[in-house]
Amino acid sequence: MELKKFVDALPIPSFITPKESYQGAPLYEVSMIETLHKFHRDLPKTKVWGYNGQVPGPTFNVEKNQPIYVRWTNHLPLKHFLPVDKTIHGAHHNPEVRTVVHLHGSPSEPDSDGHPEAWFTRNFQQTGPHFMKEIYHYPNTERAANLWYHDHALGITRLNVYAGLAGLYFVRDEQERTLPLPKGKYEVPLMIQDKTFNPDGSLFYPAQPDNPSPNLPYPSIVPSFLGDTITVNGKVWPFLNVEPRKYRFRLLNASNSRTYKFQLSNLRPFYLIGTDGGLLTRPIKVESLDVSPAERIDIVVDFSRLGGQKIVLQDGFELENPTGEIMEFRVSKSLSCPDQSKVPLLLSRIEPLRVNKVRKIRRITLNDSQDEYGRLMLLFDDKEWMDPATETPLLNSIEIWELVNLTPGIHPIHVHLVNFRVLDRYDKDGRLLIPLPADYGLKDTVLVAGGETVRIIMKFQPFSGDYVWHCHRLEHEDHDMMRPLKIIPFHSSNHSNSNRHQTDM
Ligand code: C2O
Ligand code: CU
Repeated sequence: MELKKFVDALPIPSFITPKESYQGAPLYEVSMIETLHKFHRDLPKTKVWGYNGQVPGPTFNVEKNQPIYVRWTNHLPLKHFLPVDKTIHGAHHNPEVRTVVHLHGSPSEPDSDGHPEAWFTRNFQQTGPHFMKEIYHYPNTERAANLWYHDHALGITRLNVYAGLAGLYFVRDEQERTLPLPKGKYEVPLMIQDKTFNPDGSLFYPAQPDNPSPNLPYPSIVPSFLGDTITVNGKVWPFLNVEPRKYRFRLLNASNSRTYKFQLSNLRPFYLIGTDGGLLTRPIKVESLDVSPAERIDIVVDFSRLGGQKIVLQDGFELENPTGEIMEFRVSKSLSCPDQSKVPLLLSRIEPLRVNKVRKIRRITLNDSQDEYGRLMLLFDDKEWMDPATETPLLNSIEIWELVNLTPGIHPIHVHLVNFRVLDRYDKDGRLLIPLPADYGLKDTVLVAGGETVRIIMKFQPFSGDYVWHCHRLEHEDHDMMRPLKIIPFHSSNHSNSNRHQTDM
């Protein structure tokens, strides 16, 4: 249905505060609750699942090296309100409503990482085979960055995230604070998700593909989902009144499958200053940015000479369609104080990873396949989730992964625990491609376009244990485009130099 654009103000999700302390660190309480949420002026309230009943969930704002604990609890109903396909991995014999929280971008211990099989039901009545504890620990040892948390339950992640289970998590540090970037109310988070609404306000999610073949189960997973309506921070096509000055936008693509080409309607350039893993070394002036699901961009937009104007944040891939517009900035306010913010030429330092210390190079294909119902499946090396782990790096070792996309579609590839660097990209004929602007930063999710090969380099630290890596198009992830990542502690290997893990770099 067509909703009027730019009639609701952009909400800013509130910060969460800890209620008590636990083992010497702040303990936060977050409970998943079914509630009603107002997405648009003209739309009846929508049933959602929200962390603490909020969509997006409350925002965490933590300091580097100050660990926290979070008790995530599930107070959701026992039945899902979106169509659960019981034929796919994890959904078969398990309770219909399961949840587990992953803090995306965090170097968490394995028992706090939100393994897809560490799920739990309401009041922890039932738990998955990987479940280890109720209270998660986040060490916050990473540099300042824009992380996010979201549901990760095996086989229903696409439905739980679409139902509303996602929120923002900012890590701050001293180095970032010394920079004269726009701060306070001039730093604005934007969580972007596409949705489709039924006329009664309820969320629509397809129960099967448009032209189902006769032997498909019902409901049946779809290979991709694109909503016809764009939401930002839980509002449909909102507007934001801004002053004629610089703003820093912390933008997250939290959509199930949609990749955007973000640009401004006045086609003015803006600055990319950071990526998934925090600030770049230097700002990059850009006119548009391609951002696939789960990627974050940190940008500075200068409205200072645009007083009185309206500028729309657009998706350059969809300019012919309603979804080509995302939100409107109205430079309607007057300057409340002079703008002393700047985009410094040097933003931060990023430690290089040396190619000559690489222990292993893995070549992994992204390929299509079919399941027993003849449905399209997208896989890594033709392997399914339940196949034995093949990505088993040694703790503290450096590896290069060559992600060879044999399919025509985009796959945002996410590796848990680590930040990686993008080394290079090639087209299907092996020709070197121009890097994307985001390739200059620290990444945990990389856009791999159809036919491309992208090489990433990373060091597997600081923990060993069971993690995962996967495509972040949630319809792909739920249908086996996810694999175990088993990081092997040093002592169980037969490597000869026993101090290697301490001296290496
Ligand atoms: Cu954002 Cu494994 O996920
Ligand atoms: Cu994919």
